[in-house]
Amino acid sequence: MFVPVERSADKEKNYRLLLENLPHYIDRNVPWYATLANAASVIDYFLPDVNWVGFYIMEDDVLYLGPFQGLAGCMKILPGQGVCGTAAERKETVVVDDVHAFEGHITCDTQTESEIVVPLVKEERIVAVLDIDSPKKARFDETDRKWLRKVSALVVDNLR
Ligand code: SME
Repeated sequence: MFVPVERSADKEKNYRLLLENLPHYIDRNVPWYATLANAASVIDYFLPDVNWVGFYIMEDDVLYLGPFQGLAGCMKILPGQGVCGTAAERKETVVVDDVHAFEGHITCDTQTESEIVVPLVKEERIVAVLDIDSPKKARFDETDRKWLRKVSALVVDNLR
């Protein structure tokens, strides 16, 4: 179903390609889990050097494992727990250059060295977080932070 398109070695250009392509695979007329499942797959396709891409869904103030690409993950994360719970509690993107140096980091894949978690905000409420792991240390920088915020906004706009 997915029509593979060329990826670019240029980080900004690659993110532009991701943002151009993602709308073809998400839809606000289907249930939210279908959109998040495709979003995880398309983000994973475009991002080099990542080993886990997925969503945790906020329900009754708890983050539950949602659609993802990668190894089986931790299913329940409380506010303030791990990188995901920290991002949800602070309502801001958290970039971790070295997960071993982050107190309380929750390990799902032992290959993971760095991580970024971006909150998905709808009407000022956190509805989910986007979590991306990399086997490379310090894989995520300001460029990733900027573009993944746009990617998350597009996804949240398409959630039903
Ligand atoms: N590392 C995350 C948990 C989720 S797994 O990486 C998929 C955390 O510390 O919140």
